[in-house]
Amino acid sequence: MKRNKLKVWDAPVRLLHWSLVASIVAAWWSSDRSGAAHEYIGYAAAAIALARLLWGFAGNRYARFAQFVRAPAPTVRYLKAVARGRAARHIGHNPLGGWMVVALLASITLLAISGWALGTDLLWGYAWPVRVHLALAWLLAALVALHVSGVLLTSWQHRENLVGAMITGNKKPPAEGDLD
Ligand code: HEM
Ligand code: HEM
Repeated sequence: MKRNKLKVWDAPVRLLHWSLVASIVAAWWSSDRSGAAHEYIGYAAAAIALARLLWGFAGNRYARFAQFVRAPAPTVRYLKAVARGRAARHIGHNPLGGWMVVALLASITLLAISGWALGTDLLWGYAWPVRVHLALAWLLAALVALHVSGVLLTSWQHRENLVGAMITGNKKPPAEGDLD
């Protein structure tokens, strides 16, 4: 019997993704309230990002950075193909999606470090560390907007529900011309 589903995203990838989303939303929501909640939530987001980083060396095939972080040349080629509406379907993250994973995880880590740093004796009371923290928060917001647009565009171009795949873990098996 021909199988019509392929397990792509393993359980930790899916669980970490949706908890990361929840923690970032909660960090924004708590950011204009005084108190420790924002700080704990921010550290929780960083812990989830770190766990995803570690899973990137231990998880299934499609969870591994080695599988989806591509060299600049294929990434640029893929970008050009997207612009022409002719990008090949990828089973795991496409080259742009792969770099987006790196950018999201890195900006969350830097954001948490900057949040921690602005409360230290060295930096407390200065305005500029707060401005750095706020700038990083907006950088992350911009990346998330781009990330979600990329997910929707790719879902539309390939007629495949990628959000559903991040919930169930399953995607359509490779067809002719699809790439890993
Ligand atoms: C705070 C907001 C978000 C962050 C920080 C975030 C972060 C990430 C990360 C790190 C990955 C890589 C998954 C992995 O390999 O572990 C990813 C993938 C993905 N995210 Fe998000 N995400 C966010 C919001 C969303 C939202 C709102 C949606 C749904 C509309 C979404 C849908 C997806 C999908 C479908 C993938 C898989 C993309 C693919 O097929 O290559 N994300 N996201
Ligand atoms: C990683 C996710 C995080 C996000 C998305 C985030 C976002 C923000 C945003 C948007 C603000 C500005 C609120 C305003 O307009 O006044 C803010 C303020 C602040 N954040 Fe974070 N933050 C994060 C993590 C952290 C962490 C880990 C800490 C500390 C341990 C922290 C400490 C603070 C403090 C103390 C302020 C208030 C700064 C001030 O106005 O004096 N944040 N954060």
